[in-house]
Amino acid sequence: MNAIQTNQLTRSFGALKAVDRLTLEIPRGTVFGFLGPNGSGKTTTIRLLLGLLDADQGSAQVLGFDTREQPDEVRVRCGALLEHHGLYERLSAAENLDYYGHIWHMSKADREKRIRELLEPLDLYERRDEPIGRWSRGMKQKLAVARTLMHRPELIFLDEPTAGLDPVASSALREDLSTLVAQEGVTIFLTTHNLAEAEKLCDRVGVINHGHLLAVGSPSDLRSKTSAPRLFVTGKDITSQIVEDVKNHPLVQRLQQQNGRLIVDLNDLTRSHEIVALLVRAGVQIDEVRKEKADLEDVFLQLVEEEKGGEE
Ligand SMILES: Nc1ncnc2c1ncn2[C@@H]1O[C@H](COP(=O)(O)OP(=O)(O)OP(=O)(O)O)[C@@H](O)[C@H]1O
Ligand SMILES: [Mg+2]
Repeated sequence: MNAIQTNQLTRSFGALKAVDRLTLEIPRGTVFGFLGPNGSGKTTTIRLLLGLLDADQGSAQVLGFDTREQPDEVRVRCGALLEHHGLYERLSAAENLDYYGHIWHMSKADREKRIRELLEPLDLYERRDEPIGRWSRGMKQKLAVARTLMHRPELIFLDEPTAGLDPVASSALREDLSTLVAQEGVTIFLTTHNLAEAEKLCDRVGVINHGHLLAVGSPSDLRSKTSAPRLFVTGKDITSQIVEDVKNHPLVQRLQQQNGRLIVDLNDLTRSHEIVALLVRAGVQIDEVRKEKADLEDVFLQLVEEEKGGEE
């Protein structure tokens, strides 16, 4: 059974379709990354999946339960870190988790055991009795993630877990997330703007813009499917005529010049020798040729650009 299954899920606010016919399947045990620019419908999707918001059309099953018919069944089995961390600043870390465990009817002994289990791998167990008001943002965010796991949910939603953290704190939180995922075996649905984060953490990613799902797959699938393979060429005597000739070659999708270097997007990387041969014939003294697939950032920008183009 899939952890999440949606079928043509749609939700509008007035004339705006925040989520538009979203059909998605997320197997259990997956770390799924939902990528999209601001206002693309990521948070709205999470709220629909948790049954906090009703869909106008379509349906969603989370852990086998219909989000409209059985929202309570969904919510007891899920943890969520939404835009606000939801912690009590005046309580200690342990008290925050204990309070939350209490709401979920966990026994005192079980709560104590669970607090240790979660805080130790995060290096926060020794500091569990400190009020968290004075903690750094990164520490609070780690605690907020621990809180989502307190009642041993099968699935957690993390809405931009590293937003507002500096690169060091984000990277530490990602490490900790990987550790917790391995320890807990939960399914994770996370949203992010950070593509490096998605590459590091996620088995699968979906790209959303204007409520539309533009692509879904593993980060490497997306990279190879959607983006042109690239050739970087540095050399001497690259005249403007040569640049024109390369640009007009049928293999070439796009050509950019950067600090005397040519960046050539090709239809087919296996035929890159044809471009190199053309340059040599034209008299270019080649210093270096490097092949590379575009990174996820390029893919993302390309997908979003293509969608924009489609609308005009
Ligand atoms: N309660 C609401 N009432 C009216 N419009 C809303 C409401 N919630 C969301 N929207 C609109 O729906 C669209 C999608 O919003 P959503 O919060 O899902 O985006 P997001 O992808 O999470 O963005 P961000 O990356 O900035 O968090 C936006 O245009 C937003 O203004
Ligand atoms: Mg959001």
